[in-house]
Amino acid sequence: MDLGLTGKTFLVTGGSRGLGLAGARVLVAEGAQVVLSARSADGVAAAAAELGCTGVVADLADPEAADRLVAQTVATYGGIDGALVSVGGPPAGPALSLTDAQWTDAFASVFLGAVRVCRAVVPALPAGGGALALVLSTSVKMPIAGLAASNGLRPGLAMFAKTMADELGPQGVRVNGLLPGRIDTDRVRELDGPDPAVRERIAAAIPLRRYADAAEFGRVAAFVLSPAASYLTGAMVPVDGGAIRAL
Ligand SMILES: NC(=O)c1ccc[n+]([C@@H]2O[C@H](COP(=O)([O-])OP(=O)(O)OC[C@H]3O[C@@H](n4cnc5c(N)ncnc54)[C@H](OP(=O)(O)O)[C@@H]3O)[C@@H](O)[C@H]2O)c1
Repeated sequence: MDLGLTGKTFLVTGGSRGLGLAGARVLVAEGAQVVLSARSADGVAAAAAELGCTGVVADLADPEAADRLVAQTVATYGGIDGALVSVGGPPAGPALSLTDAQWTDAFASVFLGAVRVCRAVVPALPAGGGALALVLSTSVKMPIAGLAASNGLRPGLAMFAKTMADELGPQGVRVNGLLPGRIDTDRVRELDGPDPAVRERIAAAIPLRRYADAAEFGRVAAFVLSPAASYLTGAMVPVDGGAIRAL
């Protein structure tokens, strides 16, 4: 199947590592032009060099970042067809342990950062439309123990995505959420900690009995963003090995 990505241009935030990088890798392999971004200049430079794409340093918590990223994408490639919106995860911790500062910081990058990227990308899309994919979490549908901030923020972001799908559908703009379960990235390794028993216990509760390789997420992300997924919008697409306890 031809995904129809050749010559399309995408912004990938949180793109220097993990799920964003995995998505960017497939987009580039399928012929798309990609601008990837993250906070670390070294990380951005390494990822952009590996993929042969453009890298821009930006912190999504910065209110100016989204507009700057979209402007640079359009200036570099002459337009933009969509975005894969990923960002570092919120802090771990049980519900009553998180401070106001932790909630505010997490909201600023995870929630508002994503909202700003969508707000900046949509007006720059071509007349025929485009595609946004927000990297969320299985916490949209099911709480993850010890990740109260994710459980608190992701469902709201999912409903924001769903609202955009309603509002932008008439313009041909598709908006979907991606719900990763346990994908083997820096973030998940950090959450699991050094004891291998933690990973074994979590994997044992996943129907496929393993964590995903980031490439398995990247392929789904690229498909959802691609013209091949032209009738897919307003959906929350799990990439979780069957872990979500709901349909
Ligand atoms: N991996 C999973 O299985 C899984 C499951 C559920 C949900 N998620 C969520 O999916 C998202 C991506 O996860 P991941 O596993 O890819 O994480 P990761 O391996 O930690 O990668 C995060 C990426 O985002 C960048 N980033 C972090 N904070 C940023 C900010 N404020 N502004 C711009 N870029 C930022 C990082 O680079 P810099 O540090 O250089 O900025 C890096 O490129 C996270 O929100 C995570 O909570 C992941």
